[in-house]
Order: sequence, then structure tokens, then C-alpha cells
Amino acid sequence: MVDIHSHILWELDDGSKNIFSSVDMAKQAVAEGITSVIATPHHRHPSYTNEKKNVLIRVKDLQSELKRQNIPLNIYAGQEIRLFGEMLDAFNHSEELLTLNNSEYILVEFPPSNIPKYTEQLFYDLLVKGYTPIIAHPERNAAIAENTDKLYRLIKNGALSQVTAASVAGKFGRKTQKLSLNLLEHHLAHFVASDAHNMTNRSFVWKQGMDKLKKELGSDMVTLVNTQAEDVLQGRSFKKLAPERFQQRKKLFGLV
Ligand SMILES: [Fe+2]
Repeated sequence: MVDIHSHILWELDDGSKNIFSSVDMAKQAVAEGITSVIATPHHRHPSYTNEKKNVLIRVKDLQSELKRQNIPLNIYAGQEIRLFGEMLDAFNHSEELLTLNNSEYILVEFPPSNIPKYTEQLFYDLLVKGYTPIIAHPERNAAIAENTDKLYRLIKNGALSQVTAASVAGKFGRKTQKLSLNLLEHHLAHFVASDAHNMTNRSFVWKQGMDKLKKELGSDMVTLVNTQAEDVLQGRSFKKLAPERFQQRKKLFGLV
């Protein structure tokens, strides 16, 4: 199985603190059934900048350490790129950005509470140029949680999205869990990934997430999300299922 979102590289962001912890995370990934991890350190984040060349060096270093220790996990390069208006220019004119394993897919992160106004236009421009944005953990964005139609519009226009395994497993609360499952069920999310940062409070939670997914939405959904993650890794395009809008329970007198 392929994990398309992780902070397994050390000393680059709020993920792994050192090489030992990265190796421990790799061992845990293998124990949970993961065969390939795309390392996606934060980039263009208010606190973290990790340009392409630095990510590539770290990926190479971690891969050779895993090889030395006979840990059967493949590491590939990517970034979790905080949305910024000049993203397409940066792809075209600089060596700053990475897609996921050199594919057409880009992992993009929204600010936690809103969707920038220029998003629709930027996604359109990226798609026209052959890039497919994958929205990281939409279930944790306040504007989307409030109104999933905002995500629906972006997905309908060609974007994809990835929910976090720990969200599906319930580690961020019942509301986030329910929203994650709803997004997957209505084809508004296409991947489940770990977004693992460490071995403690933000670990892979992969098996638990997959077990919950199977229990709630069936084994075909587990197969679908994992096949699509493999497609991303291999740089293949896939035919996505038509997204559906769904009714959310509205707040009544300020109570949920
Ligand atoms: Fe992340």
C-alpha cells in the first residue's frame, strides 16, 4: 500500500525530529502494511520552507539508511505545498516545487480555516497545464466542514482530495470521522493517507483507519483508495467516480 502524505523526513518541519525517529516511523509503516511512502514536508507554510533540492537530498539519505538496515520501505519525494497564488509560475519558472514522485499530482494544503478566494482560478490554471491538485485533509478545514459544497465545486472542476487515516479512525473526534467517511462515500475524497508526523500523537494509524473504512464503506472502498494512491505514485491518471453533494446536519440555535 502507498501512503501519499507523510512527514517522515527529519528536521525539515514539525514531523520527524531526527534520523532515528524517521527509521522508527519507517518500521511502523512496514508493520502496518505500507510498502511505499511519499515524503511530503511542509513547503510555503508560514513556519516551514523546504525547497525541492533539500527534499531530494533527505529522501536519498533516508532511503540509503533504510536499505542499510534492511527495512523494506520505498521513499519518494514530494511536498505538502501551502496554497499560494503564484504556484503555477513557480512550477514553470523555478526549481522550487515538487509534484508527488514526479507525477502530475500536487499535494496542496489550505489554511486551516478558509479557502483562499483565488483557489478556483488557480486550480483551473494548474489543470489546464496538466497538474492535478490533491487537497490535503479537507475534513480538517473549517470552511469545508461548515459547507461541503465548497469542496464539491473544486472536485467537480477536476481537483482530488485526501482524507487522513487518523481522521477516519476517529482520532480527531466523531465529527471529523463522520465527515471523512461522508466525503469518501460521496466521492469527494479519493485517497486515505497517514499525514504521519511522529510515533506518538500523530502516527500512521493506518490499519485502524483502513479497518474502520472497511467496516463503514466496505472492502471495495478500501481497494479503490489504495489503487488510486498507487496510480498517483506511478503517475497514472485514473477515471474518478462522479462526486455527489450530500446534506449536512445544520446547526440549530447554535447547537449541533
Ligand atoms: Fe501534512
